[in-house]
Parts: sequence; C-alpha cells; structure tokens
Amino acid sequence: MSIPYQIKSLEQYHEVYKQSIENPEKFWGDIASNFRWKKPFDQVLDWNFAEPKIEWFKGGQLNITENCLDRWAETQSDTPALIWESNDVQEANRVLTYQELLTQVCQFAQVLKNKGIQKGDRICIYMPMVPELAIAILACARIGAIHSVVFGGFSAQSIADRINDASCKLVITADGGYRGNKEIPLKNVMDEALVQCDSVQKVIVLARNNMPISMLKGRDSWWHEEVHQVIEQGITFFEAVAMDAEDPLFILYTSGSTGKPKGVVHSSAGYMVYTNYTFINVFQYQAGDIHFCTADIGWITGHSYIVYGPLSAGATSLMFEGIPTWPDAGRFWDIVDKYKVNILYTAPTAIRSLMSFGTEILRDKDLSSLKVLGTVGEPINEEAWHWYHTNIGKEKCPIVDTWWQTETGGILISNLAGITPQIPSYATLPMPGIQPILVQENGQVIEGSDASLATLPSEIVSGNLAIKFPWPSMIRTTYGDHERCRTTYFSMYKNLYFTGDGCLRDTEGNYRITGRVDDVLNVSGHRIGTAELENAINSHTGVIESAIVGYPHEIKGQGIYAYIIYHGEGIDKKNAAQDIQATVTRLIGAIAKPDKIQFVSGLPKTRSGKIMRRILRKIAEGDTENLGDISTLLDPSVVEEIVQNVE
Ligand code: WT7
Repeated sequence: MSIPYQIKSLEQYHEVYKQSIENPEKFWGDIASNFRWKKPFDQVLDWNFAEPKIEWFKGGQLNITENCLDRWAETQSDTPALIWESNDVQEANRVLTYQELLTQVCQFAQVLKNKGIQKGDRICIYMPMVPELAIAILACARIGAIHSVVFGGFSAQSIADRINDASCKLVITADGGYRGNKEIPLKNVMDEALVQCDSVQKVIVLARNNMPISMLKGRDSWWHEEVHQVIEQGITFFEAVAMDAEDPLFILYTSGSTGKPKGVVHSSAGYMVYTNYTFINVFQYQAGDIHFCTADIGWITGHSYIVYGPLSAGATSLMFEGIPTWPDAGRFWDIVDKYKVNILYTAPTAIRSLMSFGTEILRDKDLSSLKVLGTVGEPINEEAWHWYHTNIGKEKCPIVDTWWQTETGGILISNLAGITPQIPSYATLPMPGIQPILVQENGQVIEGSDASLATLPSEIVSGNLAIKFPWPSMIRTTYGDHERCRTTYFSMYKNLYFTGDGCLRDTEGNYRITGRVDDVLNVSGHRIGTAELENAINSHTGVIESAIVGYPHEIKGQGIYAYIIYHGEGIDKKNAAQDIQATVTRLIGAIAKPDKIQFVSGLPKTRSGKIMRRILRKIAEGDTENLGDISTLLDPSVVEEIVQNVE
C-alpha cells in the first residue's frame, strides 16, 4: 500500500501507524517527498538518544519559506495566507494573499541583509500579534537567520537573558502593542533589556501604536523606512537561502524544573515535515479552510499552527491581535462568525474562562462554519470539553485534544478529527511515527508499551510518559548547552525521551495526560518553572526563602501558591506581597505572579534540607487531613503552623 498523506478512516490510521512503526524511514521518506527540496536528502534518519544525536533527512537542502510561500504563490497566488483581526473592533482587518506575503517576506529579508544579517545569525523578535510578526519570522527563515521569538508578556530581564544566551545580533520589535484596553510598551521594555545586551547591533522598530519611545541613532530604525528603501530599489524577490536539513530554524525558550529557561532548538527540515503532516491530519484540513489558532506566536503553538503548519499546507491562517474577553466575552465567536472560521484551535483555560460568561452571549453568533475544534496546552476537564462540544461545536464538530510540548515541535498524541474516536479528557492515540511508552519511576516499562499495543493489559495503567523513537520535529539541542539537553530529556530513562508528564493508558491504548510530574507548573497553558520563580522571589531583599507549588485553579488549570519566609517580625503583609509581585513582574513577567502568598516562619524540610513540596501541595490544595508521614521532617511543627495560618 502506498501511504496516503491524509488519513481518511480508522482502519487507515491503524494501517498507516503500523507501517510507520515497522519501517519509519520508508514512512517519513515518503512523507518528506511531498515538499520542495533544493537538494534531495540521502539518508532519512541517523540517531542515538545517548548523546543525543538526531538527524533527519541528511544531505537534503531546502528552505522552509519556499514550502510555505513560493509553492503556493505559484499555484494559488490569490488565496489569503494570513487574515489579521485587530485588537480594536473598529480597525480594518488585513488580508495578505500568498503572493503578497511572499513579496513582503522577501522585502524584509532584504532589509535584514542590508543590516548585515547572514545565515546562522540569531535574531530576537519581541512583537505584538500583527502580520509583521509572521513576516519577520519568515524573513529570518528566508535568509537562514535563527529566530528567537520572545512572548510580549516577558520582562526586560527575561528578554536580556534570552538575547544574551543566544548572542542575538539584531532585534525586531514594535513601539508598543494593544491587548484589550491596555497598551504594552514593548520598545521601552526592550530598551531596558538592551542595556545588558552587548551583542545587539541593530534594532528594527515597527510603528504599531505610536506611543512615545526613544530611537537610538545608529542602532534603531523604523520598519517602514527600511522597507520603503527596499521598495525604492525595486526589490520584490529574495532568493531563499539553501539550508541543510539539520540547520537550526529557530530557538524558543521554555522553563524547566531547574535553572533559567532553556533555548529549545528546532531544525529546518524535520520541523517543516512534521508540523505540515500533523496540521493536515489532526485537523483534517481541506483546501479553502479558514484556520483560527488563538495562541500567541510567542509560544510554540503559534509557531507550529499559526505560521509554519498552516502556511506549508497552503491554508488560510487567521491571526488575532487581541484577547478573548475584549471588548466582551463574545470576541472569539464574533471572529468565527465574521470570517466563517472552519477550524478553531484554542486552550482549555480560554474555554473555562468563556464558559463563566454563560451562553447568552452566543445567541446571535453564527458558528455554523465550524467543522473542527481543537484544544492544547493542558488537560481539558470534562465539563469544559462538554461545554465546548455542545455550545460551540453544536455537537457536530469533533474536538481534537492535542498533546505535545515546545520540545516536540508538533502534536504527538491526538485523535484525528472525525477519523479516530474522541474521548473527553483523553488525547487518545499517537500520531503515525510516534511510539509512546509508560514507565515507572524506576524505569521499569509498564506492560502493553510495545508500539503495536498487542499486549494491552486489561485495566487502565498509569506511569510517566516517554517516547522511544525519534520523530522529525523533536528537539535537537538546548542552545549553547548540549549536555543540558541530554540530562533534561534523555538521561532519566535510558534510550527514551522523557516528557515530564504523567499519563494513563486505557485498555484500548488511548492516552490520557494527567499533568507534569516534575517541578513545572502549567498556568493557563503557560509553563512556569518553580526554581526560576523561587529564584525571582528570593532576590527580593525581604525574602529569606520561598517554595512554590501549584494548586487546582478553576480557570487557569493550575494556580501558583507561594510560601515565603520573610525578614522581621510584624511585617505589613499586604505591602510585602505587593513588593514580591512587583519583583516577579520585573524579573520574569506578570504571567508568573503568584495567585496566593502565605508568609511562614519555616518550610517543611527533610533532614538533608530538601523542601517537601508534596506536603506544601496538599496544604495548597486544601487537603490538610492527608499530609502523610511528617515525622521524618527536620521540624514537623512548621507544618502545623502553616496549616493554621492558611488564609
Ligand atoms: C506541557 C507542554 C504544546 C503547546 C502548548 C504548551 C501540557 C500540552 C496538553 C494536552 C494535557 C497538555 C503537558 C506538556 N499539555 N497539551 N492536550 N493535554 N496536557 O507547550 O509550554 O511546552 O507545555 O503542556 O504538561 O508537557 P509547553
């Protein structure tokens, strides 16, 4: 059987899955032949997880933008590539056809070249959700520069850390951005960051909200002036730079359980192949569909399923600048109605937040264009799933619950819309080529983990989720520190990629992700590292020590609970809490602000000095009856005190 690119039935899924496992090289080699290569690859896969070394499509050369832009500009030049909806309901929308997007990407690639950018240079992008953000990303890819997008909510310190880690040479930003009724001073924050960044030579600034900013002579220039110059020169095309399959495409920073955020590095070819394949299969994309992914491009979801996945498929990708609740909680539904959106991909936290506004707001919205709904970022609770299914999908749209990570590049476990069964709160089955395995803490493989699932046990099993074979879009390294990549993902279990997630598997082989098993929080689908947050809090002069845990939060999924030992007697708690929040906002960003702060005089520690987070988690969850054995603690009395002072 030759492999169909788009799987159309459950039987076909099983057949394709089987082939992808039995002969992965043949499978991915065939899939990859659907792309435009400048030079064909000679070897599909070369790998070991010990180093790790992961090389896909070796010898091949390509440029992802030829696959995202040129090939569609040739065959469907007038198809909208991007539709942009402003934060402001009054402001006109913008539509860029494939031809227009190609031209603008080429012109901006020329701007980058004029600034001295060459293949391999790193560029930091800190922008609002406007078409120029997608243009900037694609222009980097066109010229072979490695983009590092930093989400617009991160602080100056976070930006500086990221710029310095990758020695970025150039920055692309905007004067400011809009989010609901707020204006975000992007350039001012960037200027504060750049005080610490010697590697940055040039800064290109998009005029978005015309807020007052400083423009440094010799360093800063306006986007529109740069582009104008290129247009004056009559430039409408820029030859895409040939990239080796394994040349890095981008870096995206993400938090882990220890230390500063890591720069996850993705490759050119494998990332392209996998995001395209999963976009087309998971969402069952049909030519002409309008795809609306509500994520910000500052996160991996936006990279893979606003920009590269949809554009490499010739789809129309809708980009929204604003927030779901402004000017009111009907904004997503207005957008669906206005553009006749066919595929809506959002996060459980957004669904839960919109649920709380009731269904009255949906009454005059026409959602009949919707065919497929998706969720990502955290486990979706059944209540939210049913609300989404009933009120948004009108019980006729399949919901794909897509499990993946910044490190995986694309969706690894999900049902295929309308093709494989959906089960509320289950991500269900692995994508072709993906071999999940459940392991116990000690590395013991849990039965039924052979990829054919021929030996499924007769009851639901649970364990830590790992993956035992490479896939094209997996992380290649952590920028500048390969050893950190190895220890974080490949050393926990020999010859396995460890995800950090706990997981159940039912008797049919469906996977249900239960959440992180490491010290990583998932707050509104955003990853927060506890160590990183504790370090930020501890850098406040008043703080002696702190411990962060997550607790169930109705909207955010997880909330942040901070236990803090503070200097001195009789502190003004309100004041101290505000100072701590300001410190977190300054060092990381407002997304990491604790939801609850409890001042304590001590933390539960083992005799070797390790903080017993398990106990703190129980207290934060309000489950103070079942704290387990606390007699081995250095000082069991602190637990009592903490329990008594819960607010
Ligand atoms: C972590 C990855 C992948 C894009 C968004 C987040 C959790 C993600 C699901 C899902 C249950 C999920 C996991 C994962 N997660 N999708 N469908 N069901 N949990 O990317 O910041 O890299 O976070 O998000 O815990 O490890 P990320």
